[in-house]
Order: sequence, then C-alpha cells, then structure tokens
Amino acid sequence: MKKVVLFSFSCVLMMLAVSYTNDQFKSSSLKAAFKHKFLIGVSLNNGQIWGRDTAALKIIKTHFNSVVAENCMKIVSLQPREGQFRFRDADQFVNFGEKNKLFIIGHTLIWHSQTPDWFFVDADGNDVSREVLIERMRRHITTVVSRYKGRVNGWDVVNEAILDDGSWRKSKFYNIIGEDFIRLAFEFAHAADPKAELYYNDFSMAQEGKRNAVVRMVHKLKGLGLKITGVGMQGHLGLDYPKVADFEKSILAFSAAAVHVMITELDITVLQNPGRSMGADISQNYTYKKEMNPYAAGLPDSVAKILEQRYVAFFKLFLKHQNKISRVTLWGVTDGDSWRNNWPVFGRKDYPLLFDRQYKAKPVVQIISEMSLME
Ligand code: G3I
Repeated sequence: MKKVVLFSFSCVLMMLAVSYTNDQFKSSSLKAAFKHKFLIGVSLNNGQIWGRDTAALKIIKTHFNSVVAENCMKIVSLQPREGQFRFRDADQFVNFGEKNKLFIIGHTLIWHSQTPDWFFVDADGNDVSREVLIERMRRHITTVVSRYKGRVNGWDVVNEAILDDGSWRKSKFYNIIGEDFIRLAFEFAHAADPKAELYYNDFSMAQEGKRNAVVRMVHKLKGLGLKITGVGMQGHLGLDYPKVADFEKSILAFSAAAVHVMITELDITVLQNPGRSMGADISQNYTYKKEMNPYAAGLPDSVAKILEQRYVAFFKLFLKHQNKISRVTLWGVTDGDSWRNNWPVFGRKDYPLLFDRQYKAKPVVQIISEMSLME
C-alpha cells in the first residue's frame, strides 16, 4: 500500500515537473505566454512583408499572433494619385497574415498625415468642397475595405483626430467637412465590410483632455447607432511619461464607454525629445546634434534596467486589465526597425522595442512572459 502511495506521489511530481518545463518552454514565445490574456501583435515593414528580412520573420512567426501594416495601407501608399490604386504591398501584407493565421489589422483609413495633397484640392489647387471631399473619402474607404472584406479583421478607421487638450485637430478633413468626417468614415467602413472590427486610434491617450474627448466621441458614435468596436491607445511611451496611473485611467474610461481597449503602436524611447513633447506628432522635426544622440555606442546597463522596469510596469497594468484589453501591439520588430531612430531627430540610435538590433530577445521578453504565465 505504502509503495502504491509513494509511486503515485512520484508520478504526480513528475507530471508537475513536465508541466513546469512546458511552461518554461512556452514562456519563450510571447503569443503562448499571453494566449488567454490578449492578442500580441507587431507592425510589419515592407522588408518583412516581402520576406527579405528573414531573421525578423522568424521572430514574427514565433512570437506574434497579430500584425498591422506600418506604412503600406496609408492613403499615400494605396492611392498616391486620384483613382490610381496601388495594392501590391498591401496585398502581400494580407497574404502574409492569412498564410500565417494572424489577426490582421489595417492601418489606417483616414489620417491627416500621409494623405497626398490631391485628396484635398481641385485642379487649380483650391480646397475642394465638403461634398467632393466626402466623396473622395467614400471612394477610398469603400475601395480599400471591400478589397479585403472578410480578410482584414479590424481597421484603424480614423487616426489622431483629437489634440491633447481634447479639441479637434484642425486637419483638412476637419476644416472642410467638420467633425462629421469621423461619423462618415465609420459609416463607409461598416458598409464595405459589416463584420470587420472598427477602431479609433490615437497617441497621448493618457492625457485627461484627450481621454474625455475620445469618450465623448465614442458615446456620440454609439448614440447614432454606428459600430465602433474599440479604441487604440498608441503606446509611444518614454522612460518618464506618461504616468502608469494616468494610462490606467484611460483604459478604465474607454472600457466603461463599452469598447474594447487595444494598446497599439507600443514602443518606449530612451531618448529625450528636444521639444519635450510626449506625443507622436509626425510633423515635429529637429536638426541632429551629437549631444542629442547619447547612446550611439550602446545602451548603458543602468538605462537598459530602467527601460526594462518601464516595460514590466506597463505589462503588469495590461495583465491587470486583461478583461478589458483585446490586443497589445508592438510598433516594430527590432530596435533597428523603429521609427524612433528618426523622430523627431533623424539618425539617432534608440532602443525602444523587445528585440535588439541583433534580433535577440531582450531579457524583458522572458520576464513579461513569466508574469503572464503566473497570472
Ligand atoms: O518608402 C520610402 C522610401 O522609398 C524612401 O527612400 C525613404 C526616404 O526617406 O522614405 C520611405 O518612406 C518613409 C516610410 O516611413 C517608410 O520607411 C517615409 O519617409 C516616412 O515618413 C515613413 O514614416 C512612418 C510614419 O508613420 C509616417 O507615415 C514611420 O515608418 C511609421 O512608423 C509612422 O507610424 C505612425 C503611425 O502610422 C501613426 N501613429 C504614429 C506613428 C509614428 O509616427
């Protein structure tokens, strides 16, 4: 009898050991570690989409279960001239996502930036009428969303339409159409693919003014009976901004407005912005000076540690609110790919992502994976 008990006990111990080993093994893949929590995504550049960057492909396939197009689905890429659509890169992106069974995000249908000038002017260079701009929006959105109907799972329908203080960004879309352009964009997208998820996406979402304005906008769209599935909180973060508590307030506020929350475009810069801006306004641009590029020769361990702690703090927050967050997406695969190296100063060396320039996972990958597995 004693022998049987002892034998059963050692079997249980062995099973526990095997399952621990499996968990350890699983923790080397982000998507396995976050499996029952939220999707873990990454943005793809053209080198990755076309398979030229084979080392990055290995990381993407191992670690991520969602992808978003970093650039190839912006208006300037898809319709550089009126009526001349170019789908080569976007088609390849969607094919890649489907082939690898990834949750595919289209970015972005309407954005004040990266929209060619022709979109807003007539043959004489004067601003077009409200009706003409609405028709151009309708045609663009309908053509693009219909092409990928049932294939692209979710769209960033409108990007960055609100300023940090909560006022409307005075873009051409806003100036010519008025705030209605947001409603119209969601209507056109929904009509073209009724099943696609539809999102509003913006940076600096931890700012109180922006948070409140986004909540108002969500209520308004919902009140009109429109579909808005989620709000994307771009995670362009720094070592000392925003406060985790402010970011949390926004997660709670958006979730209370009955939309999914997504952390999109996650990266954490170790560099200072010469203008002290905490956003991601692409129009900012400063001339390079050597002293603005302090880590050109490598990142000191002390700073790498602070970066790691920031990632841990934010992932702790995301795990805490896993029932409200449907996806966390990194804005780039390796440090070498990141837009942060060139904004707002061209040619700096930043270290904002989870994989380094040698395609090696930073220690934080293991740490956040284990945090998730232990939840
Ligand atoms: O493709 C051309 C290439 O042919 C040319 O040789 C080269 C010369 O500079 O430019 C290349 O295009 C660049 C493109 O990135 C691809 O690398 C554009 O100049 C550059 O402006 C563009 O920057 C992108 C930026 O959006 C503007 O579209 C960044 O990669 C991209 O990370 C960034 O992403 C935005 C999100 O869409 C919205 N939220 C903020 C985020 C960061 O700015």
